[in-house]
Amino acid sequence: MSQPAFAPGFSRRDHDLVCDGVPLAEIAAAVGTPLYVYSAAALRDRYHAVDDAFGGYPHAVHYALKANSTLAIVRLLRSLGSAADANSAWEIEVARRAGFEPSQIVFTGVGKSPEELECAASLPLKAINVESAGELARVEAIAARLGRRARVAMRLNPDIDAQSHPHISTGLKINKFGVPLDEARAVLGTLGMRPSLALVAVHVHVGSQITSLDPLKRAAALAVEVSEELRRGGAPLEYVDLGGGLGVSYDGSAVPSARDYVSALVGEVRRSGLPIVVEPGRAIAAPAGVLVARVVDVKPRDESSDFAIIDAGMTELLRPALYGAFHRIEPVAARGGAAERRYEIVGPVCESSDVVGRDRLLPPLAPGDLVAIRDVGAYGSAMASNYNRRPLPAEVLVDEGEWRVIRRRQTIDDQLALET
Ligand SMILES: Cc1ncc(COP(=O)(O)O)c(C=O)c1O
Repeated sequence: MSQPAFAPGFSRRDHDLVCDGVPLAEIAAAVGTPLYVYSAAALRDRYHAVDDAFGGYPHAVHYALKANSTLAIVRLLRSLGSAADANSAWEIEVARRAGFEPSQIVFTGVGKSPEELECAASLPLKAINVESAGELARVEAIAARLGRRARVAMRLNPDIDAQSHPHISTGLKINKFGVPLDEARAVLGTLGMRPSLALVAVHVHVGSQITSLDPLKRAAALAVEVSEELRRGGAPLEYVDLGGGLGVSYDGSAVPSARDYVSALVGEVRRSGLPIVVEPGRAIAAPAGVLVARVVDVKPRDESSDFAIIDAGMTELLRPALYGAFHRIEPVAARGGAAERRYEIVGPVCESSDVVGRDRLLPPLAPGDLVAIRDVGAYGSAMASNYNRRPLPAEVLVDEGEWRVIRRRQTIDDQLALET
């Protein structure tokens, strides 16, 4: 294969930030701001890093649509060989419109509604990952009524601390996710007598943005232990589902590589011979996207800093306001020369928590300047809202040096079309 004529992802050409060789300023001039821009080359690299790391070990990568379910992104990942993890009936529908067969979709998520379970049980999904004994009973009742056998995986709550942000840790007993071990063992023991249910896997997912392999290994070891118990009892399990969770480096600090992550998981599972399902979202999509915003105002804050008010805030990128998440922010055109200034980079939304970047040193900013907020390909546009009636931002995919709008900017008419 020939080498691309550009560095994949985001880099500087002269002073300008470019995506797969295309200047972000050029795209922003054509499409306006705020604007998400994704690199197809980076998405491919990130997907292959996880997939290739398994080598010959049997596995399936189920990209977690919750991270970014814009149709063109989902289609791109499908074209690379990914399968899908959907967290709602609507994500199942997006996955299907992107071309996934039901058998390539796992349906995860706490609190699936009766309508969602009906939809899921009527499709030959790879598995419905159930989160409670009650949910299992509801799936069973629907499957019996439909005369089907529902394929289910049970999500364990392993009571493991993911050592991530409390809002994105899911594996502790106090978290709402999964079934505690004792209860899971008791419920799983009844499955032999429940003909409308086919248990295909044990599932764990202990959190997101995990930067230490230890909790992931411990969760995997536990899932294997329970799987082995079930197999000894005669359950014909097909695979073990180890969820997602691998973190990315938002601030330049070291994080485990996809290779380290996969080899840690395979190390725990290999003795069972079970194929591995993983559900990565962030690790694939986050570094492949930036949010381009324009400075709309600059005003003094205190003796040592200014506010830089940009046209993207918590409505376009919720993570900083929701979790205090850190994202690098840089000027799209790095002029150089002038001494850096200290900025509180804030959005236009009517909330004091609408801070995109605290206490940042940047070259002097002026209204009209473009800035890029990095590593927002996951949990960025997917979490955007219409608060303050702000329209959902446009999204652009750059592929092989060409760019195209993959979601146009929402209009006020789009919003009001739902209202009577
Ligand atoms: C069950 C499940 N699978 C996969 C994911 C994707 O996680 P991540 O984006 O951290 O890989 C999540 C997100 O929290 C999840 O809840």
